[in-house]
Amino acid sequence: MMHLVASFLIVASAVVHAAVPHPGQRPLGVTNAASTESSYPEVLEGIGARWRLDEPPATNATGHLVFDTINSLLQHWPNTRYRNGHTIVPGTLPVGTLLYHGTREGKIPDMPDWAATDPEHSLIFCHGSTKDGCWHLTLATTRPLKVLYFDGSSAAKLEDGPLDSQDIVAWGELRPDKAYDEIGRIKDLCAWGEQYDLDGFVRMEMDFEVMLCNFTSGVEVVSFLNIATLKIPNLSLDHIPNDKHLRKLPMVTRLMCTYADNDHFFPVFRAFEVMASGSWHNHQPGDTRIQLDLTNLISFYDTDLFPSLAEGRTGQERWDHRLNGLSSADTAALRGRLGQVLVDREQKSSGVDWQTLFRVVADRYADRLEFMHHLLTDEGGDLLRQAKNIQLQLRVVVTPYALHSAVPPNASMMHDADNSWASSVFRECATTHTAQIAKLSAVMTASERLMLHSLQETTREICRVLVGMWADGVMAGLDEYLWQDPPSGGDDDDKLERIMAQWKGQLTSLMGWLDWSVWIKCKPACGLEEVCYLPTWPFGFPLPSLPLEHEDLSPKSRSQMLLLQRQTQPGAGDGNEWQRPQPKCIRRLPPYSF
Ligand SMILES: *[C@@H]1O[C@H](CO)[C@@H](O)[C@H](O)[C@H]1NC(C)=O
Ligand SMILES: *[C@@H]1O[C@H](CO)[C@@H](O)[C@H](O)[C@H]1NC(C)=O
Ligand SMILES: *[C@@H]1O[C@H](CO)[C@@H](O)[C@H](O)[C@H]1NC(C)=O
Ligand SMILES: *[C@@H]1O[C@H](CO)[C@@H](O)[C@H](O)[C@H]1NC(C)=O
Repeated sequence: MMHLVASFLIVASAVVHAAVPHPGQRPLGVTNAASTESSYPEVLEGIGARWRLDEPPATNATGHLVFDTINSLLQHWPNTRYRNGHTIVPGTLPVGTLLYHGTREGKIPDMPDWAATDPEHSLIFCHGSTKDGCWHLTLATTRPLKVLYFDGSSAAKLEDGPLDSQDIVAWGELRPDKAYDEIGRIKDLCAWGEQYDLDGFVRMEMDFEVMLCNFTSGVEVVSFLNIATLKIPNLSLDHIPNDKHLRKLPMVTRLMCTYADNDHFFPVFRAFEVMASGSWHNHQPGDTRIQLDLTNLISFYDTDLFPSLAEGRTGQERWDHRLNGLSSADTAALRGRLGQVLVDREQKSSGVDWQTLFRVVADRYADRLEFMHHLLTDEGGDLLRQAKNIQLQLRVVVTPYALHSAVPPNASMMHDADNSWASSVFRECATTHTAQIAKLSAVMTASERLMLHSLQETTREICRVLVGMWADGVMAGLDEYLWQDPPSGGDDDDKLERIMAQWKGQLTSLMGWLDWSVWIKCKPACGLEEVCYLPTWPFGFPLPSLPLEHEDLSPKSRSQMLLLQRQTQPGAGDGNEWQRPQPKCIRRLPPYSF
């Protein structure tokens, strides 16, 4: 009964608010976006049951996964962490972009071959005899090159996920047996891409690379240099710091030199420096030499386009999301959509700068959530002060949406377990970044509608949790900036401990759901002679089953396998840490240890 009275008052005040909007504030009805042909459930509705603070997203929702993958495109760190790519995006390499290719012969490839975006990467493949040296080619694009980008660690030769999206584009099915058939892969991808005038494919391993279909089309030679082969230095342990941990490493020299025979020497500093150049693109804005057309992206987390993948994800951790459940109907849908985005290039788009919009939302919450999490896990100290500090952070987030009309019920007015008095605050918070652009949904591409939906779902959950936490703090009398008297008195420790535990659970679960890779850091931070590192293929990864002498192996695959082999000898890594990459500090000087 009392609850009904409270709800009535809220509705009444909302109506008044709608009738006489505050200056600079939009009236409530506006968030009702015009209905469009969007197949996504419209979440932008007026006040009511849809803005309940106790309604979490469906467990099979994918909006947050779409959000995080799109906000991570072309960034090394998140795509090293989650190797199994789920996004395919058309893009261009602008005129004048430099590309590098290392080879042992002084001959420009006349077949599809690989080019690196950073010379530290291509130099790995520049190894020749001491007598002849090796060759390093620098190309520059003479027109915008049309490329297709596969996200994830899409150049990691592993049988369990990173190559899935390419397999399906090249062969219409997963081909784990072809994980090391790099030549077959590049030939087939380029042959497939011809119908769309694709110049190449962008992938990522230790750094970004381009599978370039034609080394004489759209590119010109800047230089083709005969590079001196490196001398094998007299390796000595003398300069290695007298550190107990380092001294214990088996065969320190092995970590300085991956292989050396009469002709070839491959110093580990090279492997380290590729990894380091990849890390320049760790976070936003990523490697901007590839310019993506987000309005034509394809996401395998799009449940409308690929319903068959939903079942396989049930109960799976995100590391293990694969494309192996893709039905033939969905494979056909992928082909159809690729045709649309690569040929017709859907003309209509809204003009929204999606990349910036995603980033604005992530920037707005990433640091703040992390800081609140720190405050909540900081043991010891004055409990009341700690709780009020957290409430202050929550208030900062909520302030732009804390309507004058959203008044907490007072003690005499009963109990509002789901904080319905704050639901208008929730709605304002959740729709602020999307309400306006949602009206453009009729002129959006399907990819844009997917992005819109993902933003709506993601900001909705962020706001649901944060506004709920704030409202609980208000009800517990912790908000010092509220005019109304605290509804309930008493700051007993039990109550504080209860609310802190509840907050901690809610925030941890929100951050787990969002799962943004910017939160994955080395803690404590690394020293000046170290870098924070996530296990990166091929260092410490298992050896492929294919023998090294296999005739199908390209020189590139062969050298990578050699690298792999040297690095995966017992003692080179910590067992299977490659499966669930966790950050660690590694030295940026010899002896290296990946
Ligand atoms: C998510 O689960 C609900 C309930 O089980 C189901 O009705 C819905 O179709 C599922 N959505 C997808 C995309 O699989
Ligand atoms: C590569 O491009 C050049 C210049 O456009 C063309 O003459 C040549 O035939 C192409 N090579 C292949 C293998 O398609
Ligand atoms: C290589 O180093 C060892 C040990 O430091 C030293 O005894 C030896 O003379 C060095 N050899 C050369 C060719 O410098
Ligand atoms: C609670 O709210 C009611 C209705 O607004 C008001 O009459 C009453 O005085 C309030 N009680 C307290 C303790 O503030």
